[in-house]
Amino acid sequence: DWTMAEFRRTKIEEIREQVGDGKVICGLSGGVDSAVAAVLIHEAIGDQLTCVFVDHGLMRMNEAEQVVTLFRDHYNIPLVHVNAEEMFLGGLEGQTDPEKKRKFIGGAFIDLFEAEAKKIGGADFLAQGTLYPDVIESVSFTGGPSVTIKSHHNVGGLPERMNMKLVEPLRELFKDEVRELGRELGLPDIFVGRHPFPGPGLAIRIPGEVTKERCDILRKADAIYLEEIRNAGLYDAIWQAFAVLLPVKTVGVMGDGRTYDSVCGLRAVTSTDGMTADVYPFDSAFLSRVATRIINEVQGINRVVYDYTSKPPGTIEWE
Ligand code: XMP
Repeated sequence: DWTMAEFRRTKIEEIREQVGDGKVICGLSGGVDSAVAAVLIHEAIGDQLTCVFVDHGLMRMNEAEQVVTLFRDHYNIPLVHVNAEEMFLGGLEGQTDPEKKRKFIGGAFIDLFEAEAKKIGGADFLAQGTLYPDVIESVSFTGGPSVTIKSHHNVGGLPERMNMKLVEPLRELFKDEVRELGRELGLPDIFVGRHPFPGPGLAIRIPGEVTKERCDILRKADAIYLEEIRNAGLYDAIWQAFAVLLPVKTVGVMGDGRTYDSVCGLRAVTSTDGMTADVYPFDSAFLSRVATRIINEVQGINRVVYDYTSKPPGTIEWE
């Protein structure tokens, strides 16, 4: 595509100009945005870039391995893999307020990047895959909304103390354009076509307190849901589909016993940029199949509900 080829060339020049011979550190989240930003920046400045993948233990099933494999094997881009599950789950302990959860995770990311930057002798820039909708939804600026809906963890600048500038080459782009750019840069289709995944990960899909046990339960339910969606050939027709684990227990009956377990919510929406969204209209046979599988296969869930809220008035994520 001519436009994206042109965009790629222009951005590469801009990145070189901005960075000079400085060092850049880039956080990978597992999503398309940060992956595309990293590959683009690597093309511009090569090994002046260090990619850091912080595994906060809030990833979906097998996601961490997929990211590491893509960068190390497919692109041969050096990648630091930080296992920080304990730190994140420790910090989230007892935390139930959505904004406090988001702020803690955002802050912890910054701390870890800062530590990694020190290890490479200091970095001058922090690269992020911030998109246009991220910018307008979480920052109050002239012409934008004056209310913060959610603190997107990758937006909002850096603490003064970090003394690093931001490199955000995707700031003008919408999601579909980032995907186009990703294809232009040779990212595998399976990666480019992936549903968006938020930086704070499963923490914002577990309303209430986040624990390792609840993350494990949610990962299993989410994997079943997505497997059924792929098997039904619906994955690409959906903008985002995921399970949430509610802090609500209800009574059920299985075999001849009483159960008292958590409720799992299923969400699937269509959208072009994440700013507005419509509910995906699954047929009821599909939803029944998913519900039955989740309840039979996942210990800790005994009820499944489908979220029928569009955006607005709902948001896509539950927190
Ligand atoms: P909401 O829930 O605000 O989500 O309707 C809109 C889109 O943004 C994603 N999202 C995030 N992405 N960091 C991200 O990188 C975040 O903190 C974050 N919060 C939400 C969400 O998955 C949806 O695609």
